[in-house]
Amino acid sequence: MAKLIINEENKKSRIEPEVYGHFSEHLGRCIYEGIYVGDHSEIPNVNGMRTDVVEALKELKVPMLRWPGGCFADEYHWKDGIGPRENRKKMINTHWGGVVEDNSFGTHEYMELCRQLGCKTYVNGNLGSGTVQEMSEWVEYMTFDGVSPMADLRKANGHAEPWRIDFFGVGNENWGCGGNMTPEFYGNEYRRYQTYVRNYDKKNPIKKVCCGANVDDYFWTEGVLKTAFANTKEEDQQHGFMDYLSLHYYVHPEGWKIKGSSTDFNDEVWYKTLGKALYMDELVTRHGTIMDYYDPEKEIGMCVDEWGSWYKAEPGTNPGFLYQQNTIRDALIAGITLNIFNKHSDRVKIAALAQMVNVLQAVLLTEGGQMIKTPTYHVMHMYRHHQGADLLESALSGVSEIGTEEWQVPQITESVSMDQDGVITITLNNLSIEAAADLEIQFAGRDYKVTEARIVTDADMHAMNTFEAPEQVKESDFTDYTVSPEGIRVTMPRNSVIALRVRK
Ligand code: AHR
Repeated sequence: MAKLIINEENKKSRIEPEVYGHFSEHLGRCIYEGIYVGDHSEIPNVNGMRTDVVEALKELKVPMLRWPGGCFADEYHWKDGIGPRENRKKMINTHWGGVVEDNSFGTHEYMELCRQLGCKTYVNGNLGSGTVQEMSEWVEYMTFDGVSPMADLRKANGHAEPWRIDFFGVGNENWGCGGNMTPEFYGNEYRRYQTYVRNYDKKNPIKKVCCGANVDDYFWTEGVLKTAFANTKEEDQQHGFMDYLSLHYYVHPEGWKIKGSSTDFNDEVWYKTLGKALYMDELVTRHGTIMDYYDPEKEIGMCVDEWGSWYKAEPGTNPGFLYQQNTIRDALIAGITLNIFNKHSDRVKIAALAQMVNVLQAVLLTEGGQMIKTPTYHVMHMYRHHQGADLLESALSGVSEIGTEEWQVPQITESVSMDQDGVITITLNNLSIEAAADLEIQFAGRDYKVTEARIVTDADMHAMNTFEAPEQVKESDFTDYTVSPEGIRVTMPRNSVIALRVRK
């Protein structure tokens, strides 16, 4: 039988709440329809934000929301999205479906959404096609509390108080859609642009995110750190020159070109997909090793601000809208990935699931006035207890390797944390589509009680929620465990994600 040994005496790094962050881009029906319907809509809303969506997201304790892109960010000119809506410029969203972007959702609307969600702000600036002045003025517009051209403009647009920017991205994917730059060129541009991301609010300095690599592009990580960080004076390095370095990784079961279907897959593709989700561990480790070389004190956090599954768009939908279904396979991708982030909480400080509503591995799907929660939503909900908790030392043994000859994966993955009240959260995944997994959990101490046990599972690996059957996959109570003074014995059904809450 597999065994999980937990040493609750050994607290490791804190799991920052922002590791459970989200991403919303001006892409397909994520912002428009999915989140923002405008205040004249018949769909119930508060200041244009869908009430059903905001309420569901609040249950997830969304800690941070990245906006406006993505590739869209490096084509976004923020002044087009302020002032009276009827006067706002219309543009073509060239990246995503060639549709008209009417800019009715802009800076004020984003800040209102974050206010309603009670989350931190992560604004992604335009380095690819915008000027230094434009980026600098946006920061001034949002955060300066005084008399200045941009602060006055904000006030004239109805918002006297400045907002707070918690995180600011200096460009997005500048190795690709954000300008096709080399690491050295971007590294130098980063140095210049970030200089003018001014900290007007001295008490709450903006944390700057430098554009990191795509997948396994270690050359990029090396080149950018060398150019933008290593050549920087030591005192500057310590004063917010670069607070985070990003990493983007998507799981495409059949590769980037073919991608594969979100709902139609066989056993082999199941294991291949989960094997690719597990690859996140290697990526974080190897990029982290390069970061360790330049930043041994781990001052720069890794920011995996785009992760998740990316399949072929649902048949009959605009391929540029990246709308896909979400099955129990996606629940496992989320469970596996979040366990990896927890385990690397000494380096991974921010992450954002792509994307929040109606795009890629969304937590919510909408159709007109209807909204459904996906299997991924329920996993994010169960894992919310890890936010702000301390990672605990834990080790698995006796776990079978399962899958196909080419795609071998461990049957179980886990991570464990302890919150401020001493409650331990254990999150477990059974990756097998064939067999249940027995697991014995032991602690350093004795006499632990289970205070809550929840599960997301379905015997059918294709199970999903639809607008006709919105609750096929949902979180429910988990009862298949026994407790003794020595520990807990669990039987995890196949295709399952489990969260146990345990205390003395
Ligand atoms: O999330 C969809 C797209 O994926 C983003 O716009 C881009 O940054 C990435 O390539």
